[in-house]
Amino acid sequence: MLSKKMLDELNVQIKHEFFSANYYLAMAAYCIDRGLDGFGNFFIIQAEEERFHAMKFFNYINSLNGRVTMTGYEEPRNDFKSLEEVFELALKHEVFVTKRIHTLADLAQAEKHHPTISFLQWFVDEQVEEEATMSTWLDKVKLVGDNGHGLLMIDQELAARTFTPPVA
Ligand code: FEO
Repeated sequence: MLSKKMLDELNVQIKHEFFSANYYLAMAAYCIDRGLDGFGNFFIIQAEEERFHAMKFFNYINSLNGRVTMTGYEEPRNDFKSLEEVFELALKHEVFVTKRIHTLADLAQAEKHHPTISFLQWFVDEQVEEEATMSTWLDKVKLVGDNGHGLLMIDQELAARTFTPPVA
């Protein structure tokens, strides 16, 4: 059984994960509009991952007979100055999500709620990867700058990204 506080925080996280999906779709749209469909694909796949994260929380709450409540989330930013800004914001957002996951983990620890501690460990590990992914591509985008050839090479690489639901 989940405490009310834990349940509320887990429900809030569903909202954050779906917001993340929309935010990344806004970034995808910006990239596609610039003719960079591979970058667009990268963020579309990222959005799929975020919906997968949201559904993990949804299913976890239900598995403990908790009540999921769906709430609205804010409109994501749709305008960006550059690809570099897109990746800077994506990394900043992942750092925010990591803090949220750690807050949830701290609460689960404080309540000694072992199922939730165990459940959240997947997300603690996942966030290390999420930050590393955004950081890596931000570095590459910075490196190529305005070099069209370099950007197209990265675009081709990102076009190959596919979504495979992780094994929980
Ligand atoms: Fe659901 Fe990108 O963290």
